Amino acid sequence: MSFFDKKRAFSSKKDEWETPQYIYDKLHQEFDFTLDPCASKENAKCKKFYTIEDDGLKQDWSGERVFMNPPYGRYAGRKSVLEFWVKKAYEESLKYTIVVCLIPARTDTLYWHDYIFPYAAQIRFIKRRVRFITDGKLDNAPFASAVVLFNRGFSESVEPFRNDEVAQCLSVDYR
Ligand SMILES: C[S@@+](CC[C@H](N)C(=O)[O-])C[C@H]1O[C@@H](n2cnc3c(N)ncnc32)[C@H](O)[C@@H]1O
Repeated sequence: MSFFDKKRAFSSKKDEWETPQYIYDKLHQEFDFTLDPCASKENAKCKKFYTIEDDGLKQDWSGERVFMNPPYGRYAGRKSVLEFWVKKAYEESLKYTIVVCLIPARTDTLYWHDYIFPYAAQIRFIKRRVRFITDGKLDNAPFASAVVLFNRGFSESVEPFRNDEVAQCLSVDYR
C-alpha cells in the first residue's frame, strides 16, 4: 500500500486550513491561477481542482498556474505530507508550471532545505499569523506562514526567474 492510498490518508481539521479569501484574491490578481491541486468541492479556489480522491500528487500540473495550500497532516504518524507536496511543487515547476505555495514557515525542516532554499524563486514571509478558515470561521494559525514561488522551468521573461542565485526573500503584509 502506498503512502497515499485513501486508507492511509486522513482528513482531519489539521488538513483543512482553508486559505482566507483576502490572501487568495491578492495572489490571484498577481498570478491568475488555473489549478488548485489540493482541495475539496467545498473549498476549491479554482474551477479546476483535485481532491483527495483524485490525489493531486499523482496528477500532471504541466502548464498550469497553480495555487497550492496543501494538507498539513501526517500519514500514519510518519512524515509530514507537506514534504511530498513541496517536492511535487518543485518537480512540476520544471515543466513550465508556476506553483505558488502557501505553507507553514518551518524553515528548519528538510523539505525547506532540500527544495525551497535551493530552488524557489521567491519566498515571502507573511507578517503576523494568517487567519485561516477552520470550521467556517477565521482563526489565527498557531504557526508562521510563507508564500513560496517556484517557476524554475521558465525563462527570464517570467519574473522573478532565478537560476543560481539565492531565493529572493520578502516580508509581506496581506492584511
Ligand atoms: C489546507 S486545505 C486547502 C483547501 C483549499 N485548496 C484552500 O486553499 O483553501 C488542503 C486540502 O487538500 C485536500 N487533500 C488532502 N489530500 C489530498 C490529495 N492527496 N489530493 C488532493 N487534495 C487533497 C484536503 O481535503 C483539503 O481540502
